[in-house]
Amino acid sequence: MARLKDKDESTFLHSLAVSALMIAFARSLGLEEQMVRLLGLGGLVHDIGKMVLPIELLQKPGSLTDDELAIIRTHPERGHEMISQNSGLPKAILNICLYHHEKFDGSGYPQKLSGSAIPCVARIAAICDVYEALTTIRPYKRAWTQSEAIDTMLRSRGHFDPELLKIFI
Ligand SMILES: [Fe+2]
Repeated sequence: MARLKDKDESTFLHSLAVSALMIAFARSLGLEEQMVRLLGLGGLVHDIGKMVLPIELLQKPGSLTDDELAIIRTHPERGHEMISQNSGLPKAILNICLYHHEKFDGSGYPQKLSGSAIPCVARIAAICDVYEALTTIRPYKRAWTQSEAIDTMLRSRGHFDPELLKIFI
């Protein structure tokens, strides 16, 4: 995390905020404290794969080309590869890292998993990740209000687990 902070402060701050959201969400789901901790850790490392991507790409203010987007989209696998080398890490954390960009309808990446084939921890992470990104200021957009973000997420049919999204709201 310290190395991620040095490389890209905004991804570091995003990861901290996602971690806090995941802890709060996990508690409201009534998960056991050990699982709450794993979700918090998963939030911290979910984008760790961005550490090995070119900084100009991560901080590019305009829209990305198809090639650039393809590079950005390697970050779940790159991150999973990185943290897999730490053999003691629980599966839940690895799953959050690898699958947080999968979508409920199977149109996500990297594996186009759908529905319950996406590990539950990654479906939780997807909601917290997008909510945090939408409500935060970025080089290319203002920070949306909570209600704008929720509205957009509700209208993104097929992206999120509908039951989990309902509880999150
Ligand atoms: Fe990500």
